[in-house]
Amino acid sequence: MPLVTTKDMFKKAYEGGYAIGAFNVNNMEIIQGITEAGKELNSPLILQVSSGARKYANHTYLIKLVEAALLETDLPIALHLDHGDTFELCKSCIDGGFSSVMIDGSHHSYDDNIKLTRQVVEYAHANGVVVEAELGRLAGIEDAVDVSAEDASYTDPAQVQDFVERTGCDSLAIAIGTSHGAYKFKPGQNPQLRFDILEQIETRLPGFPIVLHGASSVIPEYVKMINDNGGAMPDAIGIPEAMLRKAASMAVCKINIDSDIRLAMTGVIRKYFNENPSHFDPRQYLGPARTAVKSMVAHKITEVLGSNGKA
Ligand code: G3H
Ligand code: 13P
Ligand code: ZN
Repeated sequence: MPLVTTKDMFKKAYEGGYAIGAFNVNNMEIIQGITEAGKELNSPLILQVSSGARKYANHTYLIKLVEAALLETDLPIALHLDHGDTFELCKSCIDGGFSSVMIDGSHHSYDDNIKLTRQVVEYAHANGVVVEAELGRLAGIEDAVDVSAEDASYTDPAQVQDFVERTGCDSLAIAIGTSHGAYKFKPGQNPQLRFDILEQIETRLPGFPIVLHGASSVIPEYVKMINDNGGAMPDAIGIPEAMLRKAASMAVCKINIDSDIRLAMTGVIRKYFNENPSHFDPRQYLGPARTAVKSMVAHKITEVLGSNGKA
């Protein structure tokens, strides 16, 4: 099956009360782990590439790895640019075969965000590619830019209709209390998301797909594995799975997960080296890391997203 856009996936997910996992990919093992889980569970998938991932792995390598995954799985897979920050970057990914791009104008003023998003939408739609935009600003780290909690801001529901109408975007990332990275809440803090804001957005944009960034749960098992094997991660707290399930049953159609992939791989690799200090064949530690990605993604698909059997 060729790459697909997210249009049909989101329509079905919205109507079915589930969400599609958007998993960040940086290398072959990550792509294999995610897509093997998707294949076993017959789940649609979004594979997303940040500009950092594109610099690390090279556009062509990533495209070819995803093409291989399409051949191996025959699943509906969308290839998406995560946090595109310029028209030129989005254009390069559209020209280079991606089926979906995000233009993240959330760091700009409202009017400049609209202008930039509109420019990307016009080019993308002319080329059969869909566009995710962002309104509101998440805390945390993206592409080495650290947005402090004070600089973060919730999405204003009063703006969403105007923003979507004026930009023509196909989906909208919103800020309701999730954040990027492994340290989403402080120790002792009770994790909360602003479901009231999500409800208001849903009312103002009926049927329109909403995206949740910063949605890793920071799975404690992997943080413990890292720390039990020589790591030194301070208390890391993510988004409780029950909240993600609730969001998926509402207007949220895309749930972004990167940190949980990083934690799973790092935990397993640290454990491997702790137990096998003399080994040096990359297949010996990257193999178990790939298996960990696969089982973590399978857990997300069945227990959090509900996208199993929906391909
Ligand atoms: O939101 C950011 C993603 O986790 C990608 O991270 O820019 O370090 O690849 P990265
Ligand atoms: P996490 O850091 O919570 O995995 O979020 C990833 C993300 O939003 C990618 O865009
Ligand atoms: Zn993000």
